[in-house]
Amino acid sequence: MYGWMKTNIAVLGAQWGDEGKGKIVDMLTPHFSAVARYQGGHNAGHTVYVNGKKFVLHLIPSGILHDGVMCLIGNGVVIDPQALFTEVEELARGGITVDGRLKISEKAHIILPYHRELDVLSEARRGERKIGTTSRGIGPAYEDKIGRRGIRVCDLLGDRTALADEVRENVSARNRMIKDSTLDWKPVFDQVVAFGERMRPWVADVSLSLHAMMAAGKAVMFEGAQATLLDIDHGTYPFVTSSNASVGGVCTGLGVPPRAIGGVLGVAKAYTTRVGEGPLPTELSGALADRLRESGQEYGASTGRPRRCGWYDAVVVRYSARVNGLDAVALTKLDVLDGLPEVLICTGYQTSAGTIADFPADLRLLTGAEPVYERMPGWSSPTKGITEFDRLPAEAQQYVRRLEDVSGVDCSIISTGSDRRETIVKKGSAVERWLS
Ligand code: GDP
Ligand code: IMO
Ligand code: MG
Repeated sequence: MYGWMKTNIAVLGAQWGDEGKGKIVDMLTPHFSAVARYQGGHNAGHTVYVNGKKFVLHLIPSGILHDGVMCLIGNGVVIDPQALFTEVEELARGGITVDGRLKISEKAHIILPYHRELDVLSEARRGERKIGTTSRGIGPAYEDKIGRRGIRVCDLLGDRTALADEVRENVSARNRMIKDSTLDWKPVFDQVVAFGERMRPWVADVSLSLHAMMAAGKAVMFEGAQATLLDIDHGTYPFVTSSNASVGGVCTGLGVPPRAIGGVLGVAKAYTTRVGEGPLPTELSGALADRLRESGQEYGASTGRPRRCGWYDAVVVRYSARVNGLDAVALTKLDVLDGLPEVLICTGYQTSAGTIADFPADLRLLTGAEPVYERMPGWSSPTKGITEFDRLPAEAQQYVRRLEDVSGVDCSIISTGSDRRETIVKKGSAVERWLS
């Protein structure tokens, strides 16, 4: 049945997010007919630079900056309609029109106007144990989805009486959650009806569209948001997001079969960052952390929060390689390490239960754990903007090779700057084969 002629690939985060997925998806897009987002919401911030102009994509796939490429938002995504409209308007100001190129799944769930408030409230209630969410209402929207009371895009466009009942039920459930709250359902209803009308031209059966494209021999790229260590099942629970960011999310979040995925590319930074709470075993503090944060401009693309920074953690990337079946890694931000006298790689954790080399489920094992490091010489000449592996300084080549060895996956792409062109695609690599 599925005689795909081209390789469809998934591009997803192999660490804790912000690895540079946006840049990699944008740079690969000319080889694909469509880019499809499968999970998350506008908690994502994917930055793309085109000729010095900065675009930050939140909900819309990072393929949108290339003319003629279809961009699809799957059923696994939660959509804040207002955030979507704002993003469409921002793109229009940047000269990018989504007309005729954007499709939104009719099965995608809606982030209701009060989900954000519930997110903030839930964080306040957790106190010291807060997650450090993006306050976008993502968790509460997915809670309603799993609780089988969510409202989908198609519900906004269908029978109004049924929608009124759903909104009324949702608002009273919300009022029960917030003490002394008496939010009126009617203004919420009027607002979501208006949202639905504005979205109507984009609404489609995304699974059907993807199948038609793939059957016609067109290649599709599946774009992940967040990352494997933020995955609701495989991440550092409870310090995770509320969706499946890892490869399994592609099938459930778009309505495509596993066999449609011809390759999986994990995006990993040449070091590690994390925004929000939760363990980060290789976290640095002081001057070195500041150095990485400033050189790497490690501030959240959505919330502006400073990102926590640390050395490359091979335990994490090895784990991601296993969970996602990574065929290759796109290693980003190598240039940020330029000029450091030495670079460290974490290969295991020394814990109260001994040294472990596989990422644990029980986070308590990581409390007080010490990373086991390998130390490697740094490089003094810049890697910034280099486009061929052989032209990298010898020590940088040695570092990348060692990362491949300890992570168990080939770095097919090495990114040496934020621009599309500042990229190495290794000769003979999986990525080169996919694109040929
Ligand atoms: P995403 O969420 O995974 O798409 O990543 P973000 O956009 O949140 O964060 C990655 C940041 O790093 C963005 O500002 C990118 O422009 C930037 N970036 C991506 N690749 C490189 C690179 O190789 N070198 C440098 N210096 N910056 C990069
Ligand atoms: P991209 O796609 C980095 C983090 C938040 C918080 C946790 C839960 O740009 O890589 P949520 O609002 O999702 O309920 O927050 O997940 N988080 C991200 N961290 N990059 C992201 O997206 C993130 N999206 C959510 O900081 O720790
Ligand atoms: Mg980001």
